[in-house]
Amino acid sequence: MLQLLQKAGRWLFDPLRRVLDRGFGQQLNPLNFLGALSIYFFWIVTVSGIWLFIFFKTSVVGAYESVEYLTHDQWYLGGVMRSLHRYASDAAIITLVLHVLKEFLYDRHRGNRWFSWVTGVPLLWLVIPLGITGYWMVWDQLGWYVALTSAELLDWLPIFSDSMARNFLSADVLSDRFFTLMAFVHLIGLPLFLVFGIWLHVLRINGPRINPPRVLMAGSLIAMTVLSLVYPALSQGDVDMTTVPSSLGLDWYYLLVYPLMKYWSPGWVWGLLTGTSLLLCMVPWMPPMKGKSCAEVDLDNCNGCARCADDCPFGAITMEPRSDGKAYETEAVVDPGLCMTCGICTGSCPTATPFRRHTALSPGIDSPDLTAALLRKKLLEAVEHLEGNHRIIVFTCRDNARSSRLKSNPKNSQTAIVDIICAGQLPPSFIDFVLSRDLADGVVLAGCPGGDCQYRFGAEWTSERIARQRDPQLRKRVDNSRIALGWQEPWSVCGDLPKIVTALRESLPAVAEAMHGPPPGRKNPWKIPVTAFAYIAFAAIVGYLSVWPRFQLVDEGKAMISLSFSHAGQRIRECRKLTQEELNKLPPNMRKPDDCPRERLPIRVVFSANGETLYEAIRMPTGLWKDGSSNVYRRLTVEGGNQHLFIGMNESGESPDFDFALEQEVDLAPGKHLVVEFDDIQQSFVFKEE
Ligand code: HEM
Ligand code: SF4
Ligand code: SF4
Repeated sequence: MLQLLQKAGRWLFDPLRRVLDRGFGQQLNPLNFLGALSIYFFWIVTVSGIWLFIFFKTSVVGAYESVEYLTHDQWYLGGVMRSLHRYASDAAIITLVLHVLKEFLYDRHRGNRWFSWVTGVPLLWLVIPLGITGYWMVWDQLGWYVALTSAELLDWLPIFSDSMARNFLSADVLSDRFFTLMAFVHLIGLPLFLVFGIWLHVLRINGPRINPPRVLMAGSLIAMTVLSLVYPALSQGDVDMTTVPSSLGLDWYYLLVYPLMKYWSPGWVWGLLTGTSLLLCMVPWMPPMKGKSCAEVDLDNCNGCARCADDCPFGAITMEPRSDGKAYETEAVVDPGLCMTCGICTGSCPTATPFRRHTALSPGIDSPDLTAALLRKKLLEAVEHLEGNHRIIVFTCRDNARSSRLKSNPKNSQTAIVDIICAGQLPPSFIDFVLSRDLADGVVLAGCPGGDCQYRFGAEWTSERIARQRDPQLRKRVDNSRIALGWQEPWSVCGDLPKIVTALRESLPAVAEAMHGPPPGRKNPWKIPVTAFAYIAFAAIVGYLSVWPRFQLVDEGKAMISLSFSHAGQRIRECRKLTQEELNKLPPNMRKPDDCPRERLPIRVVFSANGETLYEAIRMPTGLWKDGSSNVYRRLTVEGGNQHLFIGMNESGESPDFDFALEQEVDLAPGKHLVVEFDDIQQSFVFKEE
C-alpha cells in the first residue's frame, strides 16, 4: 500500500524535478536542497525577528501598536522585515513539507535512516508552535482568535487547574505578563529547542548539506523581498472582544488544524495530531527494510588509509587503533547500526582492483550483497556476448529505473548492463580494467540525477574520481572520451539512458556534452523562463496561503456566546461543630471549632437560548482531593437577533433545582460576542456584552 503511494507520488514529483532541472540545472535544483532551504529560511526569520523584537512592546496595548508602527510608519524597513519574517516562515513550511515528502517517496527513510526520520517528527512539534506563538504576539483579531483557540486546545490537557481560555474573553482579565511569557517562548524557548533538534536530526549523516548553494539563497531572498514589497504582511484590526471578526485571513501553513475546532472537540484535534505523529514515526518500519547486510572490513587488505571513512555518506565508518598487530596505525571499523549497504566504501578503497591475478579480489572493505569479486565475475559474463566495435558496458545503480529500457532489449549485442548497488560502488580501476583489457569500447555509468543520489554522495564522489579530483583517481592512461556519466544529464542531449548510450556510441562531441553540459557558446534557453517562473510561483503560493482562503469563525448572521466561569460546589457534607471533649483531644495548635470535609460536590449547569438547551453539563471539582472549583467553559453560536437566554446552576450535584439562575431577553446583533460569567461577590450570573 505504502509502496503504491510512493510510486504514485514519484510519478508526480519526477516531472517537477525534470522541469526544474531544465532551468536550474541538476546541481542547483532546489528539490535537492529542501532541508537546507528550510534552515536558510529560518535564518531569514531569525535576522528579521531580531529587528522586530527591537521595536516590539510586550504589553497588551503596546504589542499591537508597536507592530502597526513597524508596518506603516517604518514600512521601508520594519514593514519589509515583518513581511520577510512571515513569508520566510511560510516558505520554510513549504520546503519542509516537500523535504518530508521527498524522503518518503524516494525511500530514504527506512533502514538505518530511520533516525533522521524519527528525529524529524518532533521538529514539526517545534516549528508549528513557533509560528502559532508568533501570530499570537501581534495581538490583532487573528492573534485573539489564535490565543483563544490555542488556549481551548491546551485547556483540554490536564495541565492547568483553571481555564486558560477565560483570560482571552474580556480585556480586563488579560495581563502584560502574558506577553512577556509569549516573547520568551517565541524568541528563546522554542528556537533553542529547534536548533538542538536540527543538530540531532542530522547527527548521523556524514557532511549534511546545511546550506543551499549561494545562487539559491540569493534567489529565494529576492523572491521573498519582492513578495514583501508587493504584498506586505498586515495586521487584521485591533482586538475587540465584544464582537467576532467577520472573517479572518488564516495562515494555513501554521493554523491548518485550527478551523477544525469549529466542528470538533479539542480531544479529537489532539487525537488527530498525536495519531498522525505516531503514524509518521512508524513509517520507516512499514514495511521494515530487510535482507540488507552491512559492509565488512577485511583487515588483511586494509592499510588504514581512511578513504572509506571520509567517503561513507552515513558516517558508518570510524578509524580505530590497529587490532591485528600490522604496521599500520589505524583500521576501518563499520557500525552496523549506521551502514546503509550502499557500497560507496568499496568504490573508495584503493585495494578494490580487478587487475589482481595472484590473490583473490578481496578489498579492504566490501559489501556482502554484491562483493567486488562477484562484480568482476558479472562483468566478465556480461561482456561475453558483446560484438562489433561499438561495444558499450553500462554500469547502472539498482535504483535507476531508466536502465529498464535497455534491459528490455536482451538481443542487443552491442550493449551489456551490469547492476551495481550505487554508482559510487564502482572503483575507477574497473573502468580502466574494461577499457585496457578491451572488454568494451565505451563505459557508461548511470546513476541518480545529479545532486540527488539515493545514497547522497555516490554520483558526486564517482564524478570526482573519474575527473581525477578525488582518490582513488582514474588512471591517466584511460581515455575519458570513452566514458559517459549518466547522471550529468544535460538539458539537451541525454534525456535518458538509451540516449546516453547512443551518444557514446555514435558521437564523441555528444559524449563530451553529456558529461560537461552544453558548450560555452550555447545558452540554455530554458534557464531564465523556468527559474523566473519557479520563483514567481513559489512566492505566489507563499503569499496566497498565508491569508487565503479566508476563514469565518462564526457563520453569517450568527452571534457568539461564551460560558466562562468557575464555581466551587458544596462540600460533600455540612460542616459540624466539634464538642469540647473532641477539641480537648486535639493538640492546641489544631483546635478548629468546625470539622469541614475537603471534598466538594460537582455543579450542574444548564444554558438555553429561546427555549433550546445548548449546554447541559455536570462539572467535577478540580484538584487532587476534589476540593477545588468546578470550571465551565464553552463557546456557542446562536442566531443573531433577540434571544431569550437562561442559565441555571445547581451547586450540590445533580439535583434538578437551580441554586443560581438568570433569565433575560438580550438583543444579540449578528457578530456580537456575549460572555456569561458568575460574579462571586454578588453571587449571581451576569450576561456581559461590553
Ligand atoms: C525543521 C525541520 C527540518 C529541517 C531543517 C531538516 C533538515 C534536514 C537536513 C539539512 C538534512 C540533511 C540533508 C542532506 O545532507 O542530504 C535532513 C535529512 C533528513 N531529513 Fe530532515 N529536516 C527537517 C524535518 C524533517 C522531518 C519532519 C522529517 C521526516 C519526518 C525529515 C526527514 C529527514 C530524513 C529521512 C533525512 C535523511 C536523508 C538521508 O539520509 O539521505 N526531516 N534534514
Ligand atoms: S579505504 Fe580500504 S584500505 Fe582504506 S581504510 Fe578503508 S578499508 Fe582500509
Ligand atoms: S556500505 Fe555505504 S553506508 Fe555502509 S559503510 Fe560502506 S559507504 Fe558506509
